[in-house]
Amino acid sequence: MEQETRKNHWDNTYQKNPLTSLGWYEENSEKTLNLIEVCNLPKDALLFNAGAGATTLIQDLLKKNFTNIIVNDISSVALSELRKNLSIPKNVNLNFLVDDLTNPTELLKLKNVDLWNDRAVLHFFTSEEEQTNYFNLLKAVVKNEGYVILAEFNTEGAKKCSGLDVFNYNEIMLQERLGEDFKLLKAFNHTYIQPSGNPREFVYTLFQRKA
Ligand SMILES: C[S@@+](CC[C@H](N)C(=O)[O-])C[C@H]1O[C@@H](n2cnc3c(N)ncnc32)[C@H](O)[C@@H]1O
Repeated sequence: MEQETRKNHWDNTYQKNPLTSLGWYEENSEKTLNLIEVCNLPKDALLFNAGAGATTLIQDLLKKNFTNIIVNDISSVALSELRKNLSIPKNVNLNFLVDDLTNPTELLKLKNVDLWNDRAVLHFFTSEEEQTNYFNLLKAVVKNEGYVILAEFNTEGAKKCSGLDVFNYNEIMLQERLGEDFKLLKAFNHTYIQPSGNPREFVYTLFQRKA
């Protein structure tokens, strides 16, 4: 999908809908937080949130006293919505990066990421080129022994989200994409219930990059 079209799609989505009615809205981000807990990261670890939108996860990470967080999205509207709802302690280094994960510019400057976290973003990248660019970026910025959480619609799951086609995954496909430098630590399926009451089938995975 063209970058401008994609950006407009997401800006309009966040402009026109209350956050709590979005099909991916979570009151709390328990599933992701549980996986982050498994990583046992120091509080100043660099946490990168890919396509974070206005997720409640960021406030949850602040409550857990993490102090070094990067929040990315292609939509500046999403990130300003997120900002409105955050209370940011003074000692926290929280950076907002508007950039396209499939055609990155600013994101290429990142390095030494301790945790790459993606919920419901990668599955929108349906072309080989977009997927390759995404995984190349991930591999360029995640440090050795760093962690990767990918939570995407699973192979039993919906074929569309937000009116866009999605590419469905299971843990084997994600492992193939990451390659043998990454070890799968955990994988489980989870049925997320949308605010509308409809179920959406996800696969949650936690990988660690080898030393
Ligand atoms: C379904 S929402 C999920 C948002 C968030 N991860 C969550 O769990 O609440 C998908 C998000 O990916 C963002 N996004 C879509 N394409 C992107 C891209 N190429 N680069 C960065 N973000 C993108 C959208 O703006 C949107 O916020």
